[in-house]
Amino acid sequence: MLRFLTLLSILVSSLTAAPQLIPLPASMEIKKHTLKVPASIIYHCPEKFTSTLEVGLPQLKLSAAIKGKSFLKVTEDASLPHEGYTLDTTNDLIKITASSKTGVYYATQTLLQLMPPAVFATDKNIREITIPAVLIKDQPRFGWRGLMLDSSRHFQTIPEIHRFIDNLAHHKLNVFHWHLTDGHGWRFESKKYPKLTEIGAWRTQPGYPVKGKKEKYGGFYTQKEMREVVAYAKARGVTIVPEIDMPGHCFSFVAAYPECGCLRKPQGTDFLYTYPADAQRFPSKFGTDVLCVSQEKTLTMCKDILDEVMEIFPSKFIHIGGDEVNKNYWKNCKDCQAFIKKNKLHGEHGLQSWFIQQLDNHITSKRRRLIGWDEILEGGLAKNATVMSWQGEQGGIKAAKMGHDVVMSPQTYIYLDHGQSHSALEPPHWPGHKPLDRAYNYEPMPKQLSPKEAKHILGIQGNVWTVFTHEEWLIDICTWPRACAIAETGWSPKEKKNWDDFYQRLSQTHRKRLDYLGINYWWGNSANLGEWKPSQLKPNNEHVTLEYDVTDATKNLPAGKHPVTLTYTKGEHALSIISVALLVDGKVVSKEAHEGITGSEHRNNTYPLTFPTRTTGAKYTLRIIGHGSDGPDSSGRITISSVETKILKKLPYQDGYQLEE
Ligand code: ACM
Ligand code: ZN
Repeated sequence: MLRFLTLLSILVSSLTAAPQLIPLPASMEIKKHTLKVPASIIYHCPEKFTSTLEVGLPQLKLSAAIKGKSFLKVTEDASLPHEGYTLDTTNDLIKITASSKTGVYYATQTLLQLMPPAVFATDKNIREITIPAVLIKDQPRFGWRGLMLDSSRHFQTIPEIHRFIDNLAHHKLNVFHWHLTDGHGWRFESKKYPKLTEIGAWRTQPGYPVKGKKEKYGGFYTQKEMREVVAYAKARGVTIVPEIDMPGHCFSFVAAYPECGCLRKPQGTDFLYTYPADAQRFPSKFGTDVLCVSQEKTLTMCKDILDEVMEIFPSKFIHIGGDEVNKNYWKNCKDCQAFIKKNKLHGEHGLQSWFIQQLDNHITSKRRRLIGWDEILEGGLAKNATVMSWQGEQGGIKAAKMGHDVVMSPQTYIYLDHGQSHSALEPPHWPGHKPLDRAYNYEPMPKQLSPKEAKHILGIQGNVWTVFTHEEWLIDICTWPRACAIAETGWSPKEKKNWDDFYQRLSQTHRKRLDYLGINYWWGNSANLGEWKPSQLKPNNEHVTLEYDVTDATKNLPAGKHPVTLTYTKGEHALSIISVALLVDGKVVSKEAHEGITGSEHRNNTYPLTFPTRTTGAKYTLRIIGHGSDGPDSSGRITISSVETKILKKLPYQDGYQLEE
């Protein structure tokens, strides 16, 4: 009887459980019944949307209805918003309505998320699947939901770029900002200036993984390849915004055309650039990464290159970079100084502003729009420019108040090259700590804006700089799962967002989708080991020994090093920590002694301990020696982190695997 009741309650809960969608749709009604999706789906669909169905549902066996009944019906409804759709599942029909291919594509991605996660590993090799019946009416909150990938510092192949776009599109992100040039490599094939790639796309560097062995490293994208990538992205609702970074970050440009640098001297591309420890953002050898913008040839070249870029990329927005220009080169350049004087510009900032305005005029004359990093505000913002706010939110707020459009991409919250944990196991990354919850809780609409100014916030974007990221699996680890958080912020209504709910959807279901998709992602778990209270501490900085039975809390922890962190939560006093040790059956097996403090500020409050292979039946104890800092009024908690990240290949769908879970 008990077994029967349990079975019944599992059945009922599986029928009523809300689908675990990421990003959360704008509105979803869950109906009482379920729907059986057959192994082979007959559809009715307007001709213009059929290719989108095939692109959106490659896992399913689809065929167009010759006549009569279908199981999937797509209808055009011009009154729906461009990216919006409805997905209505009744007893025997899946109905999709949209006004555009993009809307149809998004409906297909939601439909896949109604199915068990294993569907992502199938290849038209599917059996009947039961899905919940729902009525979803969906549309995005923001029109710009982007990810940037840096293809300069490290180069990705075309299949890698396709995969990045696929994963982005599945999450209803719609902008792929392609960072095509930077100091460390020029990746855009220019027919007019071939030396940009002949010279600028290659460097000699100490090899990886064999240190000391020099290797030629690099690559570039041909115009044909880039056109194909544009089409590939478009079929998935993704616009590619190309970036040619100017007038800074141009070391490879100047290496190819030294006459365009203020030094006017040849410079190689073979600067030190090794993985991983001494990876660096700026070249360290002789040369300059700043264009001599006073040279007529420089400006002509920049405009010509942008013309080639605009030929290939139909995007309304063209990114010209504009960040981190080292003005010292202009300060020390005779020609740049004479140019500033002659044109009555306000110093080097004025020179930068003048240069960006020239690019703005050119791009605007081609009916496109210039976008640049927030440094383009320095010295005055170009008339039609859109600002990508990266140094924080201030640049974006300032630009929106001036009536300019803005994309929010602050490094203070959502830079994806920053670390996600304090674990020593996390691969090398740019210094900085931007964990998943911080990324999720970032709100791109600044409170300081009036309703009119707020209209200038186009959306949100996360950036994947590849200074430390030389392989695809490392790019995955930087990107995921934080890009899931960015996707939800960009898509879902603000009032529906909730961290606990998101984390539950992610950890219970969406993670499995990522696994089946073969996406490698950072996953840190944290378990509670105990708490300390004022009653356990003593006055006058007297040392105390705190002991916790952690046998249960650590029972599933794999052997190896795991960080134990002490975090103050309330009280007048901080906790000073002297040492943390692990005991097995009363014997110390691992100990870390260093001074740490956790209070209104935390310093060195993490203690890595090595857990031996588990002994069944043994008692595991955590021993902390410390004292209240100038008083005992301190409370806090002790947590342990473990990491489950692994390199994933796409998980195979095995015949006989039950899709119904
Ligand atoms: C940037 O991160 N330099 C835009
Ligand atoms: Zn100069």
